[in-house]
Amino acid sequence: MSIPRHPLRIGMVGAGMIFDETYRPAFEKLRRQPIYVRETGLVDVALTALASRTGHRAVRIQKEADGALGPFQILTGEEGFESLLHSDVSAICIATPDDRHFELARRVLEAGKHVLIEKPSVLSLAELDALDAIARSHQRLAKVVYHKLLDPDHKKLRTLVVDGVLDQVTSGYCSLLEPKSIALGQFTEWIAGRNPGTYVAVHYIKLVDFTFGGRLKRISASGQRGTVGTPVGSTWDSVQLRLEYEYDSGRDATFDIHTSWVHPDNFPGYVEQEVQFRFVNGVWNGHSRKRGVELTVENRTPTELKSTINNHYNARFLEPWGDRTQRGYGVEVIERFFEEVAFVEWGGDLDDRPNRWQSIRKLKYNDLSSDRPSVAAVQGMEAILQSAARGDAGSVVTVDSPQGGLVQWSIGQQNPVVLYGPKIYGERAPEQEPI
Ligand SMILES: NC(=O)c1ccc[n+]([C@@H]2O[C@H](COP(=O)([O-])OP(=O)(O)OC[C@H]3O[C@@H](n4cnc5c(N)ncnc54)[C@H](O)[C@@H]3O)[C@@H](O)[C@H]2O)c1
Repeated sequence: MSIPRHPLRIGMVGAGMIFDETYRPAFEKLRRQPIYVRETGLVDVALTALASRTGHRAVRIQKEADGALGPFQILTGEEGFESLLHSDVSAICIATPDDRHFELARRVLEAGKHVLIEKPSVLSLAELDALDAIARSHQRLAKVVYHKLLDPDHKKLRTLVVDGVLDQVTSGYCSLLEPKSIALGQFTEWIAGRNPGTYVAVHYIKLVDFTFGGRLKRISASGQRGTVGTPVGSTWDSVQLRLEYEYDSGRDATFDIHTSWVHPDNFPGYVEQEVQFRFVNGVWNGHSRKRGVELTVENRTPTELKSTINNHYNARFLEPWGDRTQRGYGVEVIERFFEEVAFVEWGGDLDDRPNRWQSIRKLKYNDLSSDRPSVAAVQGMEAILQSAARGDAGSVVTVDSPQGGLVQWSIGQQNPVVLYGPKIYGERAPEQEPI
């Protein structure tokens, strides 16, 4: 009996750092080796077009890949994106700066393609509602990449929580510090008015929400300025975000998430990241950099090579059987999305496609429909930082109060600002008929 075989053509928007770190190795591997899913058979995943603003990096990527990515078109500017929408790709991955995700993803979904968006998905709940409504009406997948949920350490944490070994979280901290080459080099084009919380705290916002469940009820934040921008401007060097949750047990938990993008480039690791979560019956300490390896190479560590290396995220290996590979959870999360698309499209009869699509939409780890608390946290944090930049520091955002879903309260002000009216938990944009 021959195994069915399907071509899955993928378009990509954005040819920056994350493309190079995770999408490139995923596409290279999938070019050599098709996906096999029991329900679909073999799926040949191919990158067929790479769209970016100027095309400079895309040309370099194509040259360096030297055929390993297969043939793909390089598209630039608005015209290039428009032609990608009209091409025969089934899905498009978006890895542009985060303030451009919404508009691009909206057009992808409206063109009837599945979409995968780099974190943070979008910056407001209104944008999230709009994307989710279009995804539902076209019966397409709208997913976001949170690769930390696939980190084996975080999977173990969640397993212990779900299995009741760790009982009721009570508080925790997470810290992720980026080197200053990110803020002062790589991101200079779009960094004005931005903050590191949206860029990296969102990893931990999602980890807390996905791992512990509960309901977000209050958001507060502070930050520091002066290195990336001026000490009184709207561009932030570092951010301390506090999220308060409540649980069905009647107990509360508070999480402090500290992020920055102005630390030295000669960190012993690529980034500095650690967590501590406390439970009524235990403590979880995790350090994503100090995982047990320390490498020293004369004149090369810790700048060109890092001393403490994360071999789980995305690393190059010489496999024991001689192959050269680049693998890790950062790559795995992208492959998984392609498997989900393949399952929806070819995992059974056409009549049953709506059920397959619904079952994949229910996956809370990556579906946009489950991203409401994380987007609420990002929107609340950004509103607090924007007010602070205008001289109104210390405001607090509440979730699902009688005044609205997301409401900002400033010190000394009688009337709060409603950032988003509908409830975060329970209410959603009305279901639309499939098109
Ligand atoms: N999963 C992770 O851990 C991780 C790590 C880094 C970045 N990211 C996310 O990936 C996204 C991109 O980050 P990056 O570090 O690769 O950024 P980058 O600045 O290195 O690259 C951005 C790319 O987007 C392209 N671009 C910008 N505007 C565009 C537009 N309007 N149309 C088409 N292309 C456009 C640029 O040409 C460039 O190729 C961000 O959302 C970021 O948060 C995720």
